[in-house]
Amino acid sequence: MPPIRNSHQPRSSKFVPYLGFIVFSAIFVFKLDVLISQTISTARRTQETIISNPNITTRPKPEDENGTFYKQFIIAWGEPQASILERGELLTLSLSKISGSGFQSRKELLFGKIDMQIKLVPGNSAGTITTYYLSSHGDQHDEVDFEFLGNSSGNPYTVHTNVFAQGKGDREQQFFLWFDPTQDFHTYSILWNPKSIVWYVDNVPIREYKNAERLGVPFPKNQPMRIFSSLWNADAWATQHGRVKTNWTLAPFVASYRNYSVDACFWSRFTRSSSCSDSDFTTKNVLKMELDRRSRARMKKVQKDHMVYDYCTDKWRFPKGPGPECKIN
Ligand SMILES: *[C@@H]1O[C@H](CO)[C@@H](O)[C@H](O)[C@H]1NC(C)=O
Ligand SMILES: *[C@@H]1O[C@H](CO)[C@@H](O)[C@H](O)[C@H]1NC(C)=O
Ligand SMILES: *[C@@H]1O[C@H](CO)[C@@H](O)[C@H](O)[C@H]1NC(C)=O
Ligand SMILES: *[C@@H]1O[C@H](CO)[C@@H](O)[C@H](O)[C@H]1NC(C)=O
Ligand SMILES: *[C@@H]1O[C@H](CO)[C@@H](O)[C@H](O)[C@H]1NC(C)=O
Repeated sequence: MPPIRNSHQPRSSKFVPYLGFIVFSAIFVFKLDVLISQTISTARRTQETIISNPNITTRPKPEDENGTFYKQFIIAWGEPQASILERGELLTLSLSKISGSGFQSRKELLFGKIDMQIKLVPGNSAGTITTYYLSSHGDQHDEVDFEFLGNSSGNPYTVHTNVFAQGKGDREQQFFLWFDPTQDFHTYSILWNPKSIVWYVDNVPIREYKNAERLGVPFPKNQPMRIFSSLWNADAWATQHGRVKTNWTLAPFVASYRNYSVDACFWSRFTRSSSCSDSDFTTKNVLKMELDRRSRARMKKVQKDHMVYDYCTDKWRFPKGPGPECKIN
């Protein structure tokens, strides 16, 4: 936003309509930003509920039963648009004008680290959104998001990250990547333990969200979450504030997944217990770690070079100042 000139300068009457225009445009642009961040989660939920059909389940062929995507995930919605290939080691989601698609983990986890290699929709992916996130159920849900907002050819994907604790989000940070995420598979990871949440791209930490409960900020730690991923159309608002629409002559749009790995505490609803013991939280690195100084320095460098939005510095949305957690992250 262009800075408004020094208010002590005398304003000529010619300048007034010009100033008005700037203020109007600024408000318009920022309003859309807010709209986007608030819409992203709700819109996704609506789409997924409308399209999901509980009667559709993936029936693996017997010889494929041992493949990772058969064992660990189910196609949750948009079945014909999603395929499990290569004996269960490759999964593709696609989006056509009729429907998008999505999958989810069979198991629920309460802390751990997940890694997935993803190749995003190539070419003109404007209007599409690929998501990869952890979420619990219910109104007061917890959620940790990676969302990839497509763009027109030659323009960068936006990597959107967010955290919800007890139903409240509004903690967005966005990044451009330092490579083309559509040319090859790259590894996107989420680490979640009682102390910290870390987002990694190719093992480089891009964001850390530390537990700030001592500052009065809720932290996701009591609700088990599932892994979800989906590909859907959001051209009403996603790309360049909705100005660039999905070009359906290019459909189907396809995103691919492979080499999933997980090191987590799985939650059983039946026994209401975790696969991890209390002592695991003092011995296993994944369950007790925060970024060390070196990794934090690396993350800060990535943020300096590649972050394009940070809710902690958004005075327009948070005129009373950023949340207390911004001080420690
Ligand atoms: C699922 O199957 C049941 C029983 O066949 C049927 O009554 C129900 O309408 C189906 N639901 C959907 C969403 O297709
Ligand atoms: C799946 O793996 C188990 C254990 O490794 C093996 O005994 C079984 O034969 C495999 N099943 C198929 C269908 O390959
Ligand atoms: C798409 O590219 C434009 C131009 O580089 C950029 O302003 C925008 O943030 C990018 N991402 C989205 C989702 O529009
Ligand atoms: C959509 O894609 C087709 C095929 O590349 C192209 O011919 C057409 O101009 C595109 N439409 C728009 C609105 O960009
Ligand atoms: C699969 O992931 C593991 C760990 O996440 C990594 O060590 C391995 O190199 C990956 N395999 C391929 C083919 O990229």
